[in-house]
Amino acid sequence: MEEKLTIQSSHPAPPCTLVIFGASGDLARRKLLPSLYNLVHCGQGLMPPQSAVLGFARSQLSQDNFRSGAREAVEKYSRLKVDETCWNSFANGLYYQSGLEQPEGFQHLRQRLEQIERERKIPPNRIYYLSIPPEAFNDCIARLAAHKLIAAPDAKQFTRVVVEKPIGHDLASAMEINRTLHAHMAESQIFRIDHYLGKETVQNLLVLRFANSIFERLWGNRNVDHVQITVAEAEGVGTRAGYYDHSGALRDMVQNHLLQLLATLTMEAPVTLNAADVREAKQNVMRALRPIGGAAARDLTVRARYAAGRSGKVEVPGYLAEKGVAPDSRTETYVALRMAIDNWRWSGVPFFLRTGKSLKRRASSIVVQFKQVPRILFNRAGNIDANLLTLRIQPDEGFSFDVVSKHPGLDVSLKPVRMNLSYSTEFGADSSPDAYERLLLDVMEGDHTLFPSAEYVQTSWQFVQGVLDAWSDDTRVPIEEYPAGSWGPVGAERLIGSIEREWYEP
Ligand code: BG6
Repeated sequence: MEEKLTIQSSHPAPPCTLVIFGASGDLARRKLLPSLYNLVHCGQGLMPPQSAVLGFARSQLSQDNFRSGAREAVEKYSRLKVDETCWNSFANGLYYQSGLEQPEGFQHLRQRLEQIERERKIPPNRIYYLSIPPEAFNDCIARLAAHKLIAAPDAKQFTRVVVEKPIGHDLASAMEINRTLHAHMAESQIFRIDHYLGKETVQNLLVLRFANSIFERLWGNRNVDHVQITVAEAEGVGTRAGYYDHSGALRDMVQNHLLQLLATLTMEAPVTLNAADVREAKQNVMRALRPIGGAAARDLTVRARYAAGRSGKVEVPGYLAEKGVAPDSRTETYVALRMAIDNWRWSGVPFFLRTGKSLKRRASSIVVQFKQVPRILFNRAGNIDANLLTLRIQPDEGFSFDVVSKHPGLDVSLKPVRMNLSYSTEFGADSSPDAYERLLLDVMEGDHTLFPSAEYVQTSWQFVQGVLDAWSDDTRVPIEEYPAGSWGPVGAERLIGSIEREWYEP
């Protein structure tokens, strides 16, 4: 076997100051601070030691308190163990500034940035990570601009803005956010995060498809029977009802993560691996999605919410009994869709997508089922299992290929067998960086490949808006229920039953 072949290596990014807007929030604690720590970790050293991280939020907090809070977060959530030398180097570059919502807050931010840059002798390369509610985006961008905190796109030192999902609540608000961003900065300065694109297994989809000759030749309507994409979560809505009850699974998961999985799986080979080419290839998939609207939504979509059930031995309340959920809520915690891609390669292949909360297990996978061989030889007497390529996105990362083999013996009997690759066995446990490590590093390096473009976001919303409109009267596609801890509503079985197939357990 050849040694590892490195196509793109991560160079130390240029020194910069990364400002986390909303630094006292959950995302900063669980993901951003641990990932940044891992990037400076001695073994990795991907972020230059002079770089700084400035937490910016509402709360009055001393620098020491911010650092000790960050230490707790890193100890709890970091992939790599805390090492004192690395921690000291990281903590030394951690700063905090309060006053996010105060009138003079942005003026103080500016002074603080200049002071940090002087102290650390670094150029004013600045990244603003907006980990704030979407309704605060417009005001925040306008204030950054008003305080001259956004450099021109061609300036020697860069200003980049990272926007967290949800990017909009519907098509109109997504377009409004794009307009506001574009009013103050160029597209090249904007990074829209979809953390699924930073997952190791999702990046591997492209390698699997375009670095292996066998798959690409099979990839399309001549050989593929249908595709299943499942993103199942065991957790319920938890403490996020305030956001989730206004969002629901279609907006929260399908508009971004599931459509990105679909686009990565089905796009044409990009001309190069450059951001512009990869983004164009994905955008073409979005353009080819057959819209689902009006009466068709009844047959092609399923919406449901969890009712009381059990997760193992624990009793789980139904969605309507969760804290913060409106008693008359019509929000779905589960969606299943039957989709079609109207292009040359995929015409006629059904794609089934499903995602939900409070399901049996946390498990995400993509299953590509290939067509049956003709009913001439071995399957004359009855069906034999179709070949399946299963890409396990999480938590047991890896992929498998199911083929049919002869069972050893004097008679001819067939047995489906599985060829399996598990990341942890092949590459070692904890080999995969967290998605945010990859994405934060890409922002520092200015690489847009894994970030959706404005057009992509808009086209994906166009598709989702059709479904939302079809659901809006609440009678065309009534909301079903499924017991928490199950694999979802019966409607989803009916949906895939429409082509006489069944869901595979992810
Ligand atoms: C987020 C959604 O984008 O993704 C959450 O807002 C969801 O509702 C989460 O739980 C799932 O991410 P992961 O990486 O745990 O699969």
